[in-house]
Amino acid sequence: MCGIVGYTGNGPAASLILDSLELLEYRGYDSAGLALKDSETGETILRKRAGRVQDLRYLCDFGSEWFNCGIGHTRWATHGGVSNDNAHPHRFGKVVLVHNGIIENYLELRDQFLLSDRLKSDTDSEIAAGVMDHFYNKNPRQAIAETVRYLKGTFSLVIMFEDIPDVIYAVRNVSPIVASYTNEGTMLASDVTALGIHAKQYMPVPEMNILELHKDAIRLYDMKGNPQACEFIDIDWDTSRASKGNYPFYMEKEIMEQPETVMKTIKSRIREGHIDLTADGIPDSILAECDSICAIACGTAMHAALTAKNIVQSRLRIKMEVECASEFIYSDPILDERTLAIVISQSGETIDTLTALKYVRSKGVRSIAVINVKGSSIARESDYVIYTDAGPEIAVASTKAFTAQIAAMMLLIGRMAVVRHALKPGEEKSFVENIMKLPEQITSVLDRRRDIHVIARQLLEAKDTFMIGRGLDYSILLEGALKLKEVSYIHTEAYASGELKHGTIALITEDIPVIAMVTQTKLISKELSNIREVKTRGANVILFLREDIDVNEAEFSKVFRLPAASDDFMVIPAVTALQLLAYYVSSDKGLDVDKPRNLAKVVTVE
Ligand code: M6R
Repeated sequence: MCGIVGYTGNGPAASLILDSLELLEYRGYDSAGLALKDSETGETILRKRAGRVQDLRYLCDFGSEWFNCGIGHTRWATHGGVSNDNAHPHRFGKVVLVHNGIIENYLELRDQFLLSDRLKSDTDSEIAAGVMDHFYNKNPRQAIAETVRYLKGTFSLVIMFEDIPDVIYAVRNVSPIVASYTNEGTMLASDVTALGIHAKQYMPVPEMNILELHKDAIRLYDMKGNPQACEFIDIDWDTSRASKGNYPFYMEKEIMEQPETVMKTIKSRIREGHIDLTADGIPDSILAECDSICAIACGTAMHAALTAKNIVQSRLRIKMEVECASEFIYSDPILDERTLAIVISQSGETIDTLTALKYVRSKGVRSIAVINVKGSSIARESDYVIYTDAGPEIAVASTKAFTAQIAAMMLLIGRMAVVRHALKPGEEKSFVENIMKLPEQITSVLDRRRDIHVIARQLLEAKDTFMIGRGLDYSILLEGALKLKEVSYIHTEAYASGELKHGTIALITEDIPVIAMVTQTKLISKELSNIREVKTRGANVILFLREDIDVNEAEFSKVFRLPAASDDFMVIPAVTALQLLAYYVSSDKGLDVDKPRNLAKVVTVE
């Protein structure tokens, strides 16, 4: 969590840092701050406060346009509450730094280095600054190397030293930093989103190396001071995607982009009617040789895995476990070399997913990562990667990344089915046709978004809702419920509808809207009976239904008909409808749709 930016060059640092921090606000938005270095006097000026980057701008009207070197930070609070003092940067002696991550042994370090009397904040980050100041004797790289020997935890630290003009230093363990040249200098950031408009290439900074940003050079050293090669990769994201365009919120824009982003994910992997993953470098052998799949992810990405599980098991007849990454390594997982690990992550930086991936690899398990952000830590850690082509996703609530993950998983499942002879040549054709139809099915839902907006109005006063369905409908409702919870703050539980009568139906009353999903042929009659059970208890049911299924619409408070597809492929139009529902509830309630309270998009703390 937390967004970091650094710039040194000939351009105005403050505006670049503020604009870039705004692009990184999805990483945290409790407080914001920057430090600017006056290259003539060497003086460092700090401005920071609780609140958004927009609030920080008001503190920067002191001629800040004359400064050409600085660092900035947008915070998601972990150690120390949300306050002006706890905002970054932190200054301690000759050290000014910003930090992303958690220093676990910060209290020990505070006592060991006798820092207590000089601390101004409650943060672990200021203690890291204190330790670095202790070791600083006009040799920055040595001070950094000494300091990180004492730090336990995850960190990216970006540092300026009071007596060194124009140079920014950085070091990282787990938490990411990327660096690039710009037209007028060099810059670094927590992720590539902030670099896109300034650079064509970027370097993911390797763990436990020291980065030096000079006005005209990027240098990298190992901890012993040996120069290291800088390896850059192309930024091939359409950076205009990182702006809102004419939409009021990124979430709406990103929902609307889905026909295109799903098509982009699919298109380059279908050749002459066949699924072809050779450009991703995924060998058929890894798909053919496994006996089971262990999928690991968090949040929305985990729902993509759960959705895929249903399809894998029914089509491939392979056992697939889906593990919540934060629980995984503590659950004594049973793995062997015939297990294939699939990790799914939009950011490629979620720490629990990364830790789980490192664990499975240490057990000799081979891995494929489904990732959106190129060159991210998980992508680099995994044996193989399929990149989703969703482009930058800025809204905290994940939408287009999810549908791209499902599309990528469909391709993977399809190819596995071919190499394992679970799909015959004729069946592959119809599987591919179904995949190719996904963008138009999304469009069909988007075109009727006003109807969903009308449905959303029924939920504005709700405190609780249930979302009920079975099989794939249940998997997709888990994602729909997460969307509604995180952006509208309505407590929503997705429930397997057959399970309701084992206890939870006791909560159903006429005040609790129930959202039901019916798209799966083999489950229609069972799902409709479960809906009747809640209706009998007074529930008002909003129904999302595959268009060719017959119901008496008068029995429901609203019905939305989803374009028909073969069962496995209904998940994409279904989730699009639920994303829109969550979006409209949130925006109609006047909430900050893109930045829901307490959240950050990239979760880099455990
Ligand atoms: O970047 P990742 O896909 O690894 O992120 C995982 C979750 O943090 C993420 O999906 C989260 O649940 C979203 N905010 C949900 O909309």
